[in-house]
Amino acid sequence: MTLPVMQLSTEQPAVPVPAPTQSAILGTYKRPPAQFVRGDGMYLYDESGKAYLDFASGIAVNAFGYNDAGIARAIQDAVATGLLHVSNLYRTAPGEDLAEFLVDHSFASSVFYCNSGAEANEGAFKFARKFGRSMSPDKTGIISLRGAFHGRLFASLAATDRAKYQAPFKPLAPGVSIVERTIEDLDAALDARTVAAVILEPVQGEGGVRVIDRGLLAELRALTHERRIALIFDEIQSGLGRTGTLFAYEQTGVVPDMVTLAKPIAAGLPMGAVLVSEEISAVMKPGDHGTTFGGGPLVASVALHVVKRLAEPALLEQVRDNGAWMGEELRAIMRRTGRVRAVRGMGLMWGIDVVEPAAGVVARAMDAGLLILSAGEYTLRLLPPLVMSRDEMRDGLESLEEVLR
Ligand SMILES: Cc1ncc(COP(=O)(O)O)c(C=O)c1O
Repeated sequence: MTLPVMQLSTEQPAVPVPAPTQSAILGTYKRPPAQFVRGDGMYLYDESGKAYLDFASGIAVNAFGYNDAGIARAIQDAVATGLLHVSNLYRTAPGEDLAEFLVDHSFASSVFYCNSGAEANEGAFKFARKFGRSMSPDKTGIISLRGAFHGRLFASLAATDRAKYQAPFKPLAPGVSIVERTIEDLDAALDARTVAAVILEPVQGEGGVRVIDRGLLAELRALTHERRIALIFDEIQSGLGRTGTLFAYEQTGVVPDMVTLAKPIAAGLPMGAVLVSEEISAVMKPGDHGTTFGGGPLVASVALHVVKRLAEPALLEQVRDNGAWMGEELRAIMRRTGRVRAVRGMGLMWGIDVVEPAAGVVARAMDAGLLILSAGEYTLRLLPPLVMSRDEMRDGLESLEEVLR
């Protein structure tokens, strides 16, 4: 039997991405050859000793950069108790204390713990369905927005607006639809009888760093209240200080019914969380959801240390100030280089539409010792650690400007 020869598209622009390296790790990522062996402050170092200034933070995880003494101490203190893991069948203080802190600093009345962002969204979908079904057996639908990224498990993948990520895994989880980001489309889609939840990122991350319009959020909140539909904010990337407030919803003028968190929450140890309103908490009963590892004493101890620091007003003010400054600098780079079409963002979360494929710029930046991300084919994404100094930011932006030229 002869197999058909795969035709490579000739329309793709030639992008100088390094050849994939030999690895025994399943090939779901195309990684450049360098291996990082050490991190300190705002820099990662490869095995040759080359330093890379990090404007990616492990995709919004490393809010305090690398080798942070407070985080190391929090881990050591947790390890010293001898409790790395205790089953969720029993109570432990770190998880209880962390939940209390999150509840005290938000709209929520309870917190569910899990191990990743996608898991947090899957949990929130289940809670919303239970809430919807408590009103009517058909009130189960989940709506997400054009441009959304909510993860790569089955329901979260169905809510993720990326044909490339979805196509190989069809059929997707049923009952999830993607709707345009307009109030007319949302109004038409939000059937009070059949829709349980709307999920959105207050600032879409992977979808190109798009700040969702406050007016749209206010109208959507009014519609979801009226139709008793749970409004879920996915703050996995935009939450926990990234936009300059502890939670991104604080700057939107609306209060959601659930917020999902992950990425920076435990400083790189795997953890996700769902903040749940009183009304939705009330429908959840023992056995409705579960996890072996979620919220264990090690991760929860570290997360409590992290969220206390991220809630510090001085840190949040620094993020807002540095973020506003960075936006101005990026607009200046746009004017000077002619290589940038648009600049969007807030806090320390910025997207830059460029005139060439983003992957090539990301690769050239890495060669130049600067780590940046893409968010779509023609958009670069900058997510520096929240504690990066103005001087370090200036160094990174100078290097980005050179790379763009
Ligand atoms: C907004 C948002 N939601 C969900 C996820 C999925 O998180 P995880 O990779 O931890 O499953 C991500 C990850 O990039 C994200 O940015």
